[in-house]
Amino acid sequence: MTARKTAVVVLAAGKGTRMKSSLPKVLHPIAGRAMVHHVLHAAAGLSPERTLVVLGKGMEPVARAVAPALVAVQDPPLGTGHAVLAAAEALDGFDGDVVVVFADTPLVTLDTFRAMLDRRRAEDDPAIVVLGFRPANPGAYGRLVVKKGKLKRIVEAKDADEDERAIGLCNAGLMVIDGRHALDLLRAIGCENANGEYYLTDIVAIARERGLDAAVVEAAEDEVMGVNSRAELARAEAVWQARRRLHFMDEGVTLTDPATVFFSADTVLGRDVTIGPNVVFGPGVSIEDGVRIDAFCHIEGAHVASGARIGPFARLRPGADIGEDAHIGNFVEIKKSVIGKGAKANHLAYIGDARVGAQANIGAGTITCNYDGFNKHLTEIGEGAFIGSNSSLVAPVKIGDGALVGAGSTITSDVDADAIAVTRAPQKALPQGAAKFRARNARKVKG
Ligand code: UD1
Ligand code: MG
Repeated sequence: MTARKTAVVVLAAGKGTRMKSSLPKVLHPIAGRAMVHHVLHAAAGLSPERTLVVLGKGMEPVARAVAPALVAVQDPPLGTGHAVLAAAEALDGFDGDVVVVFADTPLVTLDTFRAMLDRRRAEDDPAIVVLGFRPANPGAYGRLVVKKGKLKRIVEAKDADEDERAIGLCNAGLMVIDGRHALDLLRAIGCENANGEYYLTDIVAIARERGLDAAVVEAAEDEVMGVNSRAELARAEAVWQARRRLHFMDEGVTLTDPATVFFSADTVLGRDVTIGPNVVFGPGVSIEDGVRIDAFCHIEGAHVASGARIGPFARLRPGADIGEDAHIGNFVEIKKSVIGKGAKANHLAYIGDARVGAQANIGAGTITCNYDGFNKHLTEIGEGAFIGSNSSLVAPVKIGDGALVGAGSTITSDVDADAIAVTRAPQKALPQGAAKFRARNARKVKG
């Protein structure tokens, strides 16, 4: 068989009123990625020839978010069948396979899309393949009426009789339609039903009347769950996270307590990475092989090179670039800074807008004073430099290679390589001062 082309139509015109949000439903994120992008991302794995997102009126933010995917506006929304027809122009003359997906069904995997396409292209050549599942509670889902192994029709719960409602096999909503018939079949859909809507699901019975076949591919309930409310959004997040944890463990990552680690959709982890309990990955993180991240770290927009150790209780913010074998310890915050190979900031520090050389040592309580209320300034710390505890480095400032900053210093001018800089006030010593002080106070208490 010659390679057939694929077109993807994503339905997203529904209002999503149950989210009670000013953000369009399909832009609500799961693992930091908008639901509609999860769907587009999975579908992109099919290398579709064209992708079209069907939106409602006034959904410009979604149109901007999905660019460069093409957008069609369905106004007013008269049902799922009507929604696919909003893409008619893009499908005109298309003779490949049309994959219809819902933007609020974000957990469907590429494997499932592939299984549906394979079934569509099998020898018995069904014109339509429907994704089915067996939910614990079939409730309002459309029911798949299968007879002698063939899908006869889909009946919406509202329109179903008692026998049909007893069917456990339900419609997940996704469909693959042979593009050679798609527009003819879609145009034949009417709206004589309980809702007065154009049901995409009616396409199955219409196809059969015309002597075409329909088939079912089944998926797990977790994979096809729809998101209509915040509670369902949280459930989808939980399902996604559980899936991702297993994926990373399969890829050679150790998670001490998997249920407490949260990833973003774009998190990249190497092999032999070990992650302790309660670690959160925001967007844009990549971690190389052999890194250890101890408990209670928050990491976002950061890169960590192999062999580094992070945490416990460390915060890596956007632009943190941690070098090989570096150590970033407890209550250390790093923002937009490059930390050289083997450098250490082990306790209580803020490093922002800085470049720290290899093997440098940043003492406890070191702060880069990077912000003057208007602009951010750079702090440069040379290779092998040693910054004593509780030092403030007022940027812009440069500490040379091998230089030493005495504890408690406030550094406002550059320090030469191998120099010592110390700004501490001289220490006073009062012999017997403490004893005298105590005696004085003891008399007061008695007196
Ligand atoms: C649909 C199916 C039902 C299935 C269920 C699975 C139909 C008629 N019914 O019902 O068999 O069990 O999904 O979740 O298809 N949309 C538009 N324009 C419209 C209407 C909907 O773009 O005019 C979009 C929505 O944004 C959503 C998707 O289509 O992404 C599904 O619409 P929804 O109203 O949720 O369909 P269900 O009633 O859940
Ligand atoms: Mg729905």
